[in-house]
Amino acid sequence: MVEFILNNQTIQTDLPAGTTVLDFVRYDENLKGTKIGCREGDCGACTVLVGELNEDSVKYRSMTSCLMPIANAHCKHIVTVEGINKPNNELTEVQQAIVDAGGTQCGFCTVGFVMSLTGFCIDETEKSGEMAISSIDGNICRCTGYKSIERAAELVSSQLSVVSSQNNSLEIAVEKGIVPEYFSGIKNRLAELSQKNPKSKIQNPKFVVGGGTDLYVQRHDEMVYAPAENLFDNSDLRGIEENGEFIEIGASATVTDLLVSPVMQSIFPNLYKHLKLVSSTPIRNMATLAGNFVNASPIGDMTVWFLALDATIVFNNEREIHLSELYLGYKTLAKTDDEFIKTIRFRKKVQHFNFEKVSKRTCLDISSVNSAISLKTENNKILEVHAAAGGVAPIPLYLKKTSAFLRGKEISDSTILQANEILQTEISPISDVRGSAEYKRLLLRQLFTAHFVELFGFSTER
Ligand SMILES: Cc1cc2nc3c(=O)[nH]c(=O)nc-3n(C[C@H](O)[C@H](O)[C@H](O)COP(=O)(O)OP(=O)(O)OC[C@H]3O[C@@H](n4cnc5c(N)ncnc54)[C@H](O)[C@@H]3O)c2cc1C
Ligand code: FES
Ligand code: FES
Repeated sequence: MVEFILNNQTIQTDLPAGTTVLDFVRYDENLKGTKIGCREGDCGACTVLVGELNEDSVKYRSMTSCLMPIANAHCKHIVTVEGINKPNNELTEVQQAIVDAGGTQCGFCTVGFVMSLTGFCIDETEKSGEMAISSIDGNICRCTGYKSIERAAELVSSQLSVVSSQNNSLEIAVEKGIVPEYFSGIKNRLAELSQKNPKSKIQNPKFVVGGGTDLYVQRHDEMVYAPAENLFDNSDLRGIEENGEFIEIGASATVTDLLVSPVMQSIFPNLYKHLKLVSSTPIRNMATLAGNFVNASPIGDMTVWFLALDATIVFNNEREIHLSELYLGYKTLAKTDDEFIKTIRFRKKVQHFNFEKVSKRTCLDISSVNSAISLKTENNKILEVHAAAGGVAPIPLYLKKTSAFLRGKEISDSTILQANEILQTEISPISDVRGSAEYKRLLLRQLFTAHFVELFGFSTER
């Protein structure tokens, strides 16, 4: 039995836990405001808001309901456009801003934009024009043109610029009529729901689901009835903490959890710049680290990131291996069916780190080639280095030979040139829709050089 608050109504359902929230709201609840576009997380037409009790507040995030199993809605607040609409056909501030800026034509995408922008108004992000525009990076419009929609986003953020503390955005949004009054009572209602539905322990799953952003794209129909255990909300698999010389991250932490984590922000000064290259806001809100690792895509951004941190993964049976040891061949993993990832661990002393990605579009696109590097240096000498690359081999690749070559070397033009030659000997890209093998070799050469340009200010003339 899954129980949650849908808009202002508490709902219980016995439907298969793998049913998507999109199908549930449209076909069981007849809430047709939420649209179906791609069913692959790409268009944002199905965007809903998901509120989760977080200590003493409700944390709202936008998510694509086409990829979200109702199991992941348990004890949460799911908000569709019907849940923010005002009575008497009045428009909310966000809807009015879209009208005022001329940001809608056929209207098919508009509900998705309204939900993403409303999410921006009530989430913890800084209320700036840049962040408002960033909140709609997962929404596609095929007829209006983005400039007018961006103007609407800026209008919304300027109306919120009085928000001094990001912690009171929900209060202010209620005051300004951006969301209805009943949102103020959701915290207590979610607390009651959680008390009534104590979290169960993880059994011995043969098949697990995180955020569903890979599984529901690849195996949508099968997932509805799959005997899966949902790990997304398991509190033992969440959290990002310092533990001695290590940082330990719960396997179900999402990309957004990393983005907003003070621990991660203190270690990675370019965290926002790098992570905003990964998918889109609603997908980052759902995509877990373990899902990225186990999906084993050769271009998994978070996988390449954590390979370059020389991270280890800890399974439920406490077996710990280096992330690089997980990949035996294309989508072949060094793990049994009974094993799921519990924790990701890396050394917190990260002196220099850089991530680079090239994709056909800036937002909402997977990499053609990506690369990450972490280095420890002293007096221009490389003491420790781990480099990784994606899109250049059947697996996300830890660059073993290149990293070994760099250890102990001076950082110089000649070192980078030689490292780039070694790099070319350990990759084996193939030609596909994302580019020819030659192009990917060239891209990686450029990205590898870009690490040193970014970190040490080298010129790009090589
Ligand atoms: C529109 C769109 C854009 C995307 N863009 C990007 C991008 O830019 N970069 C990128 O890297 N990826 C991208 N992805 C892919 C995807 O979002 C990521 O791979 C994500 O991290 C998968 O996590 P998940 O929790 O959703 O995985 P799920 O779909 O839940 O699971 C994926 C796999 O991991 C397994 N799994 C989940 N949790 C565990 C666990 N704890 N232990 C063991 N196995 C586990 C599942 O059984 C399944 O085999 C995109 C996806 C979509 C739909
Ligand atoms: S229908 Fe396109 S993102 Fe869900
Ligand atoms: S208004 Fe028609 S798709 Fe956006």
